Amino acid sequence: MLRGLLSGVAGRWRQRRLLVPSTDKGEAKIAVSRVAHSYRDVEALKNVTLNIHHGEFVCLLGPSGCGKTTLLYALAGQVSPTFGNITIDGEPVKGPSPDRLLMFQEAALFPWLTVRQNLHFALRSKERSKRRREDLVRKYIRRVQLEGFEDALPHQLSAGMRMRVSLARALTMNPAVLLMDEPFAALDAQTRGQMHQLLQRVWLETRKTVVFVTHDVREALVLGDRVVVMAMRPGHILTDLEVRLPRPRDPDDEKLVLMSRQIREMLRRAGAAERPGPEEVEERDGQGEGPPVARSVPTRAPRPVGARF
Ligand SMILES: Nc1ncnc2c1ncn2[C@@H]1O[C@H](COP(=O)(O)OP(=O)(O)OP(=O)(O)O)[C@@H](O)[C@H]1O
Ligand SMILES: [Mg+2]
Repeated sequence: MLRGLLSGVAGRWRQRRLLVPSTDKGEAKIAVSRVAHSYRDVEALKNVTLNIHHGEFVCLLGPSGCGKTTLLYALAGQVSPTFGNITIDGEPVKGPSPDRLLMFQEAALFPWLTVRQNLHFALRSKERSKRRREDLVRKYIRRVQLEGFEDALPHQLSAGMRMRVSLARALTMNPAVLLMDEPFAALDAQTRGQMHQLLQRVWLETRKTVVFVTHDVREALVLGDRVVVMAMRPGHILTDLEVRLPRPRDPDDEKLVLMSRQIREMLRRAGAAERPGPEEVEERDGQGEGPPVARSVPTRAPRPVGARF
């Protein structure tokens, strides 16, 4: 019994050392300082401070409506924060730039162009030499394992393959930072798992700085060097954790499953803390001022059931 107890304590201790608060690692590539953003009456972000270093893979994780996309768009320069500032390599972000590439759930390929042509088209303004363009296109098609499909049109590919083309296209552009907003959310579980393995491998080869938004705790733990956990009303950073698991990571790894439980519990507690108690609701309802502002109302239509919290 004593042995069981000791091994349980040792397991928890090891666990703690695998998921630790992030430490400052010196000069940041992306520095987000006291950023706030409001859309008219919706306070989407408040006091967000975050440093991301060169070559890090950072996952932004949090419930629907906590401001993940707003923060990502602010990094992309497509949203101007109402307060605070963001710099990349010391330069303030003032608008979109090809150095910060956004990827979404939709692969957004030109349907009338083949895989090869889609990649060539993306490269046309960046690379003048046709020969060099061809080399790059070949290299990235190989990297995302699409050899043999160079002449296929997007509708002749599966959703996962289209996403791989989209990833290859992003990589050919060689951006300094890759910003990904739930790119795999629409894929089935098996294809998503394959994309996780592929993205891990590609990242190990390229060491791009990646900021990846997700709802999915295990996805964040499989992919991220760091998991920045966000909470809502207004959107803020709850905690910033370093994931110390070797790669490639397996989502069914026992340690990873335990870590994901730990993060879910943290989110549950944060959610419970923001929900008003029954007395508070009654009190506000009694004031006849319409619905209580702090009541937990989803900001969006419910998402399809999946590996979400
Ligand atoms: N263009 C907009 N105009 C007004 N309000 C907006 C706009 N975009 C987002 N919001 C609001 O800002 C808050 C944060 O939204 P955001 O899309 O950043 O959240 P999210 O964490 O990405 O959510 P999800 O996981 O559902 O994509 C939400 O309350 C949302 O309703
Ligand atoms: Mg979003």
